[in-house]
Amino acid sequence: MKKILAVLLMSVMVMSLASCGKSSSGTAQAGVLVMATNAEFPPYEYHEGGDIVGIDAEIAAAIAEKMGCTLEIEDIAFDSIIAEVDSSKADMGMAGMTVTEDRKQSVDFSVTYAVARQVVIVKEGGDIASIDDLAGRKIGVQQGTTGDIYASDDYGDDNVERYSKGMEAVQALAQGKIDAVIIDNEPAKVFVSENEGLIILDEAYADEEYAIAVRKGNTELLNAINEALDELKKDGTIDEIVDRYISAN
Ligand code: ARG
Repeated sequence: MKKILAVLLMSVMVMSLASCGKSSSGTAQAGVLVMATNAEFPPYEYHEGGDIVGIDAEIAAAIAEKMGCTLEIEDIAFDSIIAEVDSSKADMGMAGMTVTEDRKQSVDFSVTYAVARQVVIVKEGGDIASIDDLAGRKIGVQQGTTGDIYASDDYGDDNVERYSKGMEAVQALAQGKIDAVIIDNEPAKVFVSENEGLIILDEAYADEEYAIAVRKGNTELLNAINEALDELKKDGTIDEIVDRYISAN
């Protein structure tokens, strides 16, 4: 009897956790939605006066609100996010994370909420004028990102310098320690504006899409996130958030 009760109690707890505050009996309980991110990626997530702000942080807050739960943001290394979600230490990973076939083996992705591009940052007036000039050069990336994966696959490990933050790679480029950086277009714009003498090549390295990662098989949470994202797309909330962080030009 005791055992049955305990199992019952456990499953009620698990269910209310999974849907974050909405237990199957309908009694709303304050739940917490834990988002794992890497807040070194403006304008999607970055630190500002002790807070983590940005497009992802605001979209996540809107999703949490729709689900009736409080958002908690955990700032960790980018290449730890998938493991954090996989081990249920975080409910979702949201970090300007590109959907890739490889990552799909480890996590489930929501519907996409942004399109993005990998771009190449180089020294203004330097000798790299196009992607064709990258062979044999030192390329800086943020560790574990798609930029890292492309650079390693296309030019070999020996030509790739991995940094824990994208900004560190860009600073190394500004200081002449490396020859180029492959990184997402919006952070690239921010980092280039903060460092003298750098430009972004016109030609994109790759086109990508961002989505939210949840533990494989966590359909209940995935459905709740997808539903919230669809509503936030339809009612213009996502556009409004993006417009506040990214200027139209
Ligand atoms: N879009 C790239 C990827 O998924 C880079 C994301 C980096 N995000 C971050 N918050 N540092 O690999």
